[in-house]
Amino acid sequence: MKESIMLEQDIKKVLITEEEIRAKSKELGQILTEEYADKNPILIGVLKGSVPFLAELIKHIDTHIELEFMIVSSYHGGTESTGQVNIIKDVDSDVTGRDLIFIEDIIDTGRTLKDLRELFLKRNPASIKIVTLVDKPAGRVVEIEADYTGFVVPNEFLIGFGLDYDENYRNLPYIGVLKEEVYNN
Ligand code: IMP
Ligand code: MG
Repeated sequence: MKESIMLEQDIKKVLITEEEIRAKSKELGQILTEEYADKNPILIGVLKGSVPFLAELIKHIDTHIELEFMIVSSYHGGTESTGQVNIIKDVDSDVTGRDLIFIEDIIDTGRTLKDLRELFLKRNPASIKIVTLVDKPAGRVVEIEADYTGFVVPNEFLIGFGLDYDENYRNLPYIGVLKEEVYNN
């Protein structure tokens, strides 16, 4: 059993505030509204980390969209991307000829999104774009960039707003850094 404590006690510093996330999501939502007007895109959320960002972002998209979710796990032993992800839950709809927008919490090594993009390209969509709340470019080991990025962050382990440490802290309304002692417990 976890001790019943307030999450804030474990936070060393807040890197991105709730207000900053909301403002950035609004800005990105407005861009997507213009870019995808009349295109009826499918937003694909990669579970579980993308959920808070996706929920905030779609409030600011003022055109028709559809939602899909995926659960994936990567099985990368070496340094090369295999172009294959282990799909635990796939999208339910046919993506042929559709405009797809992947929504991610964070791009670190880039493997997850590189593999997902390669997989979905084989399904002949009209287009694929990537939106990520956070980008950690220093962590990259394969070549992939988001089309839209909320925040570029330093190479630190972050938690909150979908980002987890051992499945915890996803529900924090901001993005922050954990105190060292939390890892050592
Ligand atoms: P990658 O780009 O394939 O390395 O995978 C990105 C995934 O790694 C994200 O969806 C997160 O689940 C996880 N991840 C990477 N960096 C962090 C972090 O700083 N905090 C929490 N999860 C992270
Ligand atoms: Mg994750």
